[in-house]
Amino acid sequence: MQNKPKVVILGTGGTIAGAGSSATNVTGYRPSVIGVEELVTAVPKLGEIAELEAQQLFQVASYLLETSHWLKIARAATEALARSDVSGVVITHGTDTLEETAYFLHLTVRSEKPVVVTGAMRPATALSADGPMNLYNAVSLAASAESAGKGVLVAMNDRIACARDVTKTHTSGLETFRSTEYGNLGQMENGVPRFYRVPLRRHTAFAEFAVAGLDDLPRVEIVTGYVGATGAPIAAAVADGASGIVYAGTGAGNFTTAAREALVAARRSGAVVVRASRIAAGAVTRNTGHVDDDALDFVVADDLSPQKARILLMLGLTRTRDTRELQRMFRTY
Ligand code: SIN
Repeated sequence: MQNKPKVVILGTGGTIAGAGSSATNVTGYRPSVIGVEELVTAVPKLGEIAELEAQQLFQVASYLLETSHWLKIARAATEALARSDVSGVVITHGTDTLEETAYFLHLTVRSEKPVVVTGAMRPATALSADGPMNLYNAVSLAASAESAGKGVLVAMNDRIACARDVTKTHTSGLETFRSTEYGNLGQMENGVPRFYRVPLRRHTAFAEFAVAGLDDLPRVEIVTGYVGATGAPIAAAVADGASGIVYAGTGAGNFTTAAREALVAARRSGAVVVRASRIAAGAVTRNTGHVDDDALDFVVADDLSPQKARILLMLGLTRTRDTRELQRMFRTY
């Protein structure tokens, strides 16, 4: 009989590890209270598809995470994947910022072995909790040779999504994680992965970023545009030490005259400015009729959401401050 693949499960907290006061209480619960060992034990079927090793990295709701937590997860995943006896890694995580951690890992974990991030919308104590099936699917994906080389995957609600594309779209519904513009990579069929497409942008083993030697990440703030937006939040972020500003502009990355003046001042003072959009889908392109990025020395986010553009900018700034190089990165990842 063949050995089962070994999957390391890294627990970080979230609703998947949450407990409510009753089985019908699906919003008023405490996240991050059930240990990862207990989550694994609650799904005995996992033992049929993989040999499991659970590690509790921390127990923190994902809206409380700091960039230091990303570094910790990336290091633990990298360490586990370097072991010859480990086939893949699963990370259990809160859903609020799951897409951010997944994209950070997509850019920093230098391995072709599967890395799968999962969570749950309902606490473990709820009727119809989604965590156990999400965990089963995530382990099945991490144990599958078919998942290798596809970057960091997100397993939620029977879907397989690419970390770059996926975003949370509903505050409470189970069908919340969607890859709005390009669709999912695949779906789980009775716990077995079925892939339909692969990501083409660079990631994981082929990325140029690394967490080794990093104690922290450069500070990048996101500022959102709206009718009548002033430049005050931009000026405040720069005065407070931000190395970069991602501006989530209106439409295709536009801004008010006051915001433009503040962004120009921010760039002059040395901060890198990335134009993104507050719109859920579509790209911000360079040098539109409204904005001459070449003249202003701005970078555009392509189709990355502001929160993912921030991650790429933070990692980019660990390597260069040259805006042409940073723009290349936004075309590459
Ligand atoms: C969190 O993100 O930690 C809480 C919400 C969730 O996991 O769904």
